[in-house]
Amino acid sequence: MNDDVRKYIYGAITVFLVGVMSWISIIYVSACGVTLTCQRGAPRVDRTPIPTLIPATLPASDVSWDAEVSEPAPLTNSDTCRVPAVNFIGAWAASQTPKSTEADPFYFVDEDGKNCEATFPDVQALLNQPNLRGADSLACTSCHSGDLTVAPAQLDLSAFAGIMTGSRREGNKPKGADILGDGEWKASLLYDFLTNARADVPGHEQALSASFMISVGRSFAGPLPTPTP
Ligand code: HEC
Repeated sequence: MNDDVRKYIYGAITVFLVGVMSWISIIYVSACGVTLTCQRGAPRVDRTPIPTLIPATLPASDVSWDAEVSEPAPLTNSDTCRVPAVNFIGAWAASQTPKSTEADPFYFVDEDGKNCEATFPDVQALLNQPNLRGADSLACTSCHSGDLTVAPAQLDLSAFAGIMTGSRREGNKPKGADILGDGEWKASLLYDFLTNARADVPGHEQALSASFMISVGRSFAGPLPTPTP
């Protein structure tokens, strides 16, 4: 082979390579511009397909107001009685005999003239309740608790037995001073300490108002039962 042929071959290869490289360069620059950080060759991100909305096939529910609505339930239970708290406690106190138990019903006539009955737990709930004698007044039982070593006047108002046993039970004696008035409610110690404010007795600065109403007990048809001796 002579040198001329060799030159032609080499020349052709060179021209071919230069052509290929410039062709690649033109494609690169036209796609990416003159940069070395071209991302266009990166694999395509798989995107979430656009969701297809399921067509609603059920009929729209009827939201128009039904004219046949039943009567709204009354706000207060008409069986419940309304009575001043002090009269209620008094009705219980006056009904107590040495034979009474805390389950015995007692009877009273409420503000609306209805005949009503209740039991001792309804009374106990009042003695356990704060704010009976006005805002921030303590519950009776927070002082007159079952622990006679600390209860003022050794009076336990936290249970039926304690109330029936009375006050001033120094040394835990089994019978104290009667606080229920022995049938004479307005003469009782309980009525006195409930309805008279005493500035000098801690816990008794506020009195129970005669007009403080409560909803309690249940009414019944028919006459009040006469007490059985
Ligand atoms: C902050 C404590 C306290 C609270 C609460 C309290 N008391 Fe008293 N109570 C006393 C004190 C103190 C005395 C007088 C004790 C004395 O004189 O030795 C007293 C006396 C009494 C007495 C007279 C007892 C007697 O033999 O002299 C009765 C009845 C009584 N309280 C009932 C109640 C009732 C009912 C309530 C709830 C409405 C109540 N107390 C709430 C502290 C309290």
